[in-house]
Amino acid sequence: MKSDNINFAIASDHGGFDLKNKVKEYLQSKNYEVKDFGTYDKNSCDYPYYAKKVVNALLSGEFKKGILVCGTGIGMQITANRYKGIRAVCPSNSFYARLSVEHNNSNILCLGQRALGEGLAIEILETWLNSKFQGERHQKRIDMIDE
Ligand code: RB5
Repeated sequence: MKSDNINFAIASDHGGFDLKNKVKEYLQSKNYEVKDFGTYDKNSCDYPYYAKKVVNALLSGEFKKGILVCGTGIGMQITANRYKGIRAVCPSNSFYARLSVEHNNSNILCLGQRALGEGLAIEILETWLNSKFQGERHQKRIDMIDE
């Protein structure tokens, strides 16, 4: 585990299975711990089931950050954002990834295997990992979401 103590809950549906494995390999190569909540093969399955597994892992307090991969990232994002305390984002570039952390303290990164090449997906992931929440006025606004 890295010294900043972050480990990741990760899941995908069949449409995000290959990219999820690349993301997992990348995180493990950087010495992050990753818990894979499925799916474990390419058989057709339902993204809400897997999104909820990662949401529950965060809401239970076991994990602080999650990554969800499907064909577009969109179904995962919509599902995860139904839950109070979850701020799931589906950035299409590094700018969105950085601002989603700096201003919105995003806690789930959604990626679309059909929409992003591996290189861009990993660049987005790296930016998301290395960005820091700026707090202050942004915290007040986040509190307002859940009020
Ligand atoms: C599955 O066919 C596909 O709908 C799913 O992976 C995702 O793209 C949904 O948002």
